[in-house]
Amino acid sequence: MSDLAALEQRASAELAACADEAALRAWNTRYFGNNGEMLAALKAIGGIPKEERKTYGQEANRIKEALTNAYEQKLAEVKERALSASLTSNPLDVTLPGRPVPRGRLHVATQVMRQITAVFADMGFQVYRSREVESDEMNFELLNMPPHHPARDMWDTFHTTIPGVILRTHTSPGQIHVMREQCPNPIRVILPGMCYRYEAITTRSEIQFQQVEGLVIGERVTMADLKGTITAFARRLFGQERHIRFRSSYFPFTEPSIEVDIDWPKDDPNADRLTKGTGWLEIMGAGMVHPVVLRNGGYDPAKFTGFAFGMGPQRITMLKHAIDDIRQFWGNDLRFLRQF
Ligand code: PHE
Repeated sequence: MSDLAALEQRASAELAACADEAALRAWNTRYFGNNGEMLAALKAIGGIPKEERKTYGQEANRIKEALTNAYEQKLAEVKERALSASLTSNPLDVTLPGRPVPRGRLHVATQVMRQITAVFADMGFQVYRSREVESDEMNFELLNMPPHHPARDMWDTFHTTIPGVILRTHTSPGQIHVMREQCPNPIRVILPGMCYRYEAITTRSEIQFQQVEGLVIGERVTMADLKGTITAFARRLFGQERHIRFRSSYFPFTEPSIEVDIDWPKDDPNADRLTKGTGWLEIMGAGMVHPVVLRNGGYDPAKFTGFAFGMGPQRITMLKHAIDDIRQFWGNDLRFLRQF
């Protein structure tokens, strides 16, 4: 028997003995891999004496063809068998309805932030982001609070290991950033973001909370603009029938300063508790930007005026949804979060 015939016989027998895919692949490498025997037999064609070359070549190619076909057929069979075995040994009913994929949702704080942003966007405000880690200078000094100013007691904060670098206690330092960037252009922005205060955690106060600052600077901006803007905002968020009350107040960076209350529906069973019996609920601090702050931002107070406000969207959310504990916001309790 010629070498080729012997090769064919041996390869066919071995192929027939292969029981699974791994064995088949090994067989394929043995005969058709880079150092495979079949490949070697084909390469040998060149060295065959001329008169035998043609017959040898034809035979070698026929065997190669036959083995390749047999291999592919066997491989398909083995794969088919493995598939049906896995389907019957571990039956999968593809007609069963799928399990519902739990859908996420926006955190209630994010939802309210977006509502607030949308209302101000309609009034032509842009959103400006500013940093949470601030210098003492930005957070206090440039807002008209020198180092030993008693008003600093209202905003105790967290200090970093770098002297003078703190976590901001309010979004107001953002006012300075915007002014210095925009001066001498008019400004109409809101600055949403996280703030930090070192205080006892209670149902009404957290060490971390969001604020939305607002800043408008221009020529002939007046207190009437401030009142109109805030009234429009409160009615959009809480209903057109809301009444708004302005109380005089004090902030070092605004003069005059006010606090804004909205009336709370008397038929709400929580009204008394929320308003401490007064019927009014505070939603923000505000005022006309202090001349010192305008100057620190680069604006000439003889020419420019402006107003600013700062509100806590968590407090607003608590009002909207009758939430009685501010700690729920960052508590990550799904039972709370799924309600919104
Ligand atoms: N920054 C003040 C606070 O945190 C709020 C405020 C902002 C008041 C802007 C007036 C003007 O309480």
